[in-house]
Amino acid sequence: MVCLGNICRSPLAEGIMQHFVDEDGLDWQIDSAGTGNWHVGEGPDRRSVLTARNHGIDISKQVCRQFRRSDFSEFDLILVMDKNNRSEVLAMAPDEQSATKVMLLLGDKEVPDPYYDDSKFEPVFALIEQGCRDIIKKQRTI
Ligand code: 4NP
Repeated sequence: MVCLGNICRSPLAEGIMQHFVDEDGLDWQIDSAGTGNWHVGEGPDRRSVLTARNHGIDISKQVCRQFRRSDFSEFDLILVMDKNNRSEVLAMAPDEQSATKVMLLLGDKEVPDPYYDDSKFEPVFALIEQGCRDIIKKQRTI
């Protein structure tokens, strides 16, 4: 799960996907990262922590890290929140095969950055939740 800062959207995406994977007993490894490095080592934004907590998900122990080239060999799917994230990540892809792992979490839509608007965290949670459900459904039919 990749966004810009790895403090708002992708920590929510990691927490929500981990929650579903645990519920379904899937053997998936979930992680998140940011294309930027401003918040490396910090926990998620408190608004994301609170929003997740309101839905029974604890993301408070996550630690921000930057996306790295080795993530392409580490993971089968690299789910990005918006098209800027996608460009940044694709620019780091070592080869064509790696580039095919990169997709928008919402398929053709973006998860908007809620950083500057407190009221956006709840709708962003709902978007990410639906995106995670759809990914699980799709992967299970492959
Ligand atoms: P995120 O939101 O990409 O959803 O984590 C942002 C958080 C911080 C910044 C930008 C976006 N920032 O510029 O610090």
